[in-house]
Amino acid sequence: MKLQYFFAFSVLCLIAGRGPMRAEDLLVADFESRSYEGWTITGEAFGDAPASGTLANQQAVSGFRGSGLVNTFHGGDASVGTATSAEITIQRSYIAFLVGGGPHKETVGIELLVDGKRLRAATGSESEELEWSSWDVSELSGKQARLRIFDRATGGWGHIAVDHIIQTDLPPKRFDLQYKLAEYRQSAVYLNEPLRPQVHFTPEINWMNDPNGLVFHNGEYHLFYQYNPAGNSWGHMSWGHAVSRDLIHWKHLPLAIPEEDGVMAFSGCCVVDHKNTSGFGDGKKPPMVAVYTGHGHGKQVQNLAYSTDDGRTWTQYAENPVLDNNIPDFRDPKVFWHAPSNRWVMVVSLAADKILMFYASSDLKSWEELSRFGPAGTTGKSNWECPDLFELSVENEPGRKLWVLEVDMGDGSIAGGSGGEYFVGHFDGTTFTANQDARWVDFGRDFYAPVSWSNIPESDGRRIWIGWLNNWETCLVPTSPWRSCMSIPRTLSLRKVPAFDSTGDSIYALVQRPVKELRQLDVKTLSLNTDAATWPPVAVTKPGALTDMNFVLETTLQPAGARSCGFRIRTGEDEFTEVGYDREPGVVYVDRRKSGIVDFHKAFAGRHEAPARLIDGAITLQIIVDRSSIEVFAGDGEAVISDRIFPTANQPMIEVFAGDESARVTDTTLQQLKSIWRK
Ligand code: FRU
Repeated sequence: MKLQYFFAFSVLCLIAGRGPMRAEDLLVADFESRSYEGWTITGEAFGDAPASGTLANQQAVSGFRGSGLVNTFHGGDASVGTATSAEITIQRSYIAFLVGGGPHKETVGIELLVDGKRLRAATGSESEELEWSSWDVSELSGKQARLRIFDRATGGWGHIAVDHIIQTDLPPKRFDLQYKLAEYRQSAVYLNEPLRPQVHFTPEINWMNDPNGLVFHNGEYHLFYQYNPAGNSWGHMSWGHAVSRDLIHWKHLPLAIPEEDGVMAFSGCCVVDHKNTSGFGDGKKPPMVAVYTGHGHGKQVQNLAYSTDDGRTWTQYAENPVLDNNIPDFRDPKVFWHAPSNRWVMVVSLAADKILMFYASSDLKSWEELSRFGPAGTTGKSNWECPDLFELSVENEPGRKLWVLEVDMGDGSIAGGSGGEYFVGHFDGTTFTANQDARWVDFGRDFYAPVSWSNIPESDGRRIWIGWLNNWETCLVPTSPWRSCMSIPRTLSLRKVPAFDSTGDSIYALVQRPVKELRQLDVKTLSLNTDAATWPPVAVTKPGALTDMNFVLETTLQPAGARSCGFRIRTGEDEFTEVGYDREPGVVYVDRRKSGIVDFHKAFAGRHEAPARLIDGAITLQIIVDRSSIEVFAGDGEAVISDRIFPTANQPMIEVFAGDESARVTDTTLQQLKSIWRK
């Protein structure tokens, strides 16, 4: 073997978590050919040949390798059958395979037969995501055996999926992130599953929640996030990592900060320590310093980690924690440089008490308490989490700047479940004072824990944040092998607007707009004829007009005498998501009750309303739709509704409606967007 090939081979083996010095794996079956050659098939469940993925009426199947697998969902759960291999000689210590589907041990599964007797068996775990499973067969070395895949089950989850059967001395671990990632990167559906957002950030595989450590540095926007390296639901929280040069196209990077010694890396922030106050710098360039919550051993503390190579590798500070009050709910620090007082300021949450604490530090290592804020605003039973504090300009009062303090609550928010509120007021370097009542950040159910980027150059001057497009109550969304996505990054400002009450007062409203960089994805503009807006809704797109389900719809609604008008999007048979203006009580709304898959949680189906004002009888809407999300920006960013949707309809039909003939829907364009993942 030439040296470079040997090197490449060794690296590959190491990436896969396996040492190079071992007997090579023996492939038993990969089901890549268009026939079951070598296998004896009975019954109907296996079809005539290996499946190429998901079968009719089945939830998305993932986690298989290449483009073929055994999938006994031919004819649905009701069909039965068996597939029996030719004889093999057992020559390695393990037989390993990918398996998914039903969990019924006696009626669906794969078994090892020696002399016709079952010696080993395995089954699925009620998931269409195939996972590695293996049998230790070292004691059977040299024996002749057969494998049999069987499906005798006819009820719910009465099917099995199997792929890539190997004999090996080192079975892939069920939760080996590198191995799973390497597998997934080869899969035909890589970042392209039917419900995989195409213009929003998602992790390649596994669970994600809050955005963390947002910082701009050396031309890159860093996005860290709460990540479970071991699976597709919450656990083992660590910091995942991605970078972007334009806030839209993301490059996935390796795990940045792992869970260590039973201490998880919870949410936090990242700063560029330009003056090397922390002493973590190497003398050549400023260090990046992450400030995050360590969660474990019954308490939450604040920790540091730093990087001197543009965030590619991270060292956890040897003297962690830097802040330990010996309490269980003390988390999610956000730190920024406060120039007037020449020091770092931290806002961090005493979560269960609904109190935000402010601290100051000259070196990021020793912190002194400054003040406290709260409880205030909505203070139900929930925790306060993930605060952020920054100054914003008022768009329609030139020269005026005000401070905004944002905080999220795990439950009891405006649309139900988790959500965020903001306070507008003043921060003097020590204390925050609110000047008006708390307001909701987003009126949908799926925008949580937004935090803003630090260190964006003054020449740019924007305050930009991103939120977790999900809700803790309904977070187990029907996607795999990944869960959750981030919102489109949004620029922030304030606007003085009339209060939504009879006082005649004014208030400062947070204005959120999708970053302009999104529109580099524009590929095809369709103008829609909406003159015919009537009831019942009429179609304004032709089948095939949109090539994918990621687009921006822009429009102006003039309800006039009508009760409501607006659009139905992603319309299929008895399926649609409705977006419109409702004159009684004066709201923009998203209704996802019939949006597709809604029954995975009883709180998911619903209608979410944002108070919104008409100006000269009209309101503009900018609606961003992706394969499983909708974000509505009403009145040029004055009111926002963000929701996940899980349509089953593949036909991306759009319809317009108006409650009576006086209503007008004008200036409507539909812009198809390009995928950020595919060429
Ligand atoms: C908010 C949150 C944070 C915590 C993190 C844990 O969604 O509960 O308070 O740091 O998630 O994953």
